[in-house]
Amino acid sequence: MTELVDTFGRAHRDLRISLTDRCSLRCTYCMPAEGVPWLPGPTLLSTEEIERITRVAVGLGVTEVRLTGGEPLLRPDVVDVVRRIAALEGRDGPVEVSLTTNALRLPALAGPLRDAGLARVNVSLDTLDRERFATLTRRDRLPDTLAGIAAADAVGMAPIKINAVAMRDVNDDEVVALTRFAVDRGYEMRFIEQMPLDAGHTWDRTAMVTQAEILERLRGAFTLTEVPGRGSAPAERWYVDGGPATVGVIASVTAPFCGACDRVRLTADGQLRSCLFARTETDLRTLLREGADDDALAEAFRTTLAGKKAGHGIDDPGFLQPDRPMSAIGG
Ligand code: 5AD
Ligand code: SF4
Repeated sequence: MTELVDTFGRAHRDLRISLTDRCSLRCTYCMPAEGVPWLPGPTLLSTEEIERITRVAVGLGVTEVRLTGGEPLLRPDVVDVVRRIAALEGRDGPVEVSLTTNALRLPALAGPLRDAGLARVNVSLDTLDRERFATLTRRDRLPDTLAGIAAADAVGMAPIKINAVAMRDVNDDEVVALTRFAVDRGYEMRFIEQMPLDAGHTWDRTAMVTQAEILERLRGAFTLTEVPGRGSAPAERWYVDGGPATVGVIASVTAPFCGACDRVRLTADGQLRSCLFARTETDLRTLLREGADDDALAEAFRTTLAGKKAGHGIDDPGFLQPDRPMSAIGG
């Protein structure tokens, strides 16, 4: 059992750790061309500090750790971080470690990451068109992302999940092509409704591509049958043409899954957040550096979750986008 139960009865087992706020791409929906003001180096948690906080979280019942960014593979010690976390024993067995990445460094790192104990990768890929990719990410790197995906596949990481943020007049006409790409290779395609998390604060609810629209496009090309038993997974999934391949939609905006949320987040500079959209953070870095013991860190986890809100409230009149962009919070 986890001790991390909030006031709504939600048990938290999934810790998402941002390893860096930097990125090798500049996706227009995430960052401006010049990047964002990066977190100062000394505020970033060290390998040992990440391990220590994770150990405390695992002691409280966390069983899954997802490493995110920015781009987590830009962190020089990423293989070591994976090795240390994968070695932790949770209450139900070894901690499962996965990673969300743009895949650019996977050709070099897939093997070492697998050997260090990485179970799975989620790769962000919004388009299969090279020119579009270059416009959208401001870097002409589609071949490298594709090589990275192939490298993860070649070392036996499975299932490989491909995430695309659906965007109007950018890639909404590629829903079917992306799904075919994934199905043909045995990957799981997932489309994400765009959330108000961009550094430029340009998100517009009315322009957003909804789950209903994504499904309509998919149904024009495939027969979809619902996969039962979603649990706390953010993606709702459908078998494609009878399966076993599936396609998922993460409908964070039109069908929020906050009621089943089991996630808590640690930023690269050591701030604990109960939600992507939380308005407050708990400063674990300062606690740690001032010599807090494990009990004090555990108490900080409990207090943070005690303040967790029922939902993100994107549709509420008073909704405020978090002060920090997604790249600083971790996806
Ligand atoms: N809404 C939804 N998903 C987003 N991502 C980045 N910004 C947003 C947003 N505003 C995605 C990335 C990646 C994952 C970490 O989050 O494309 O797949
Ligand atoms: Fe980098 Fe991901 Fe942001 Fe794109 S969305 S710039 S890959 S952190």
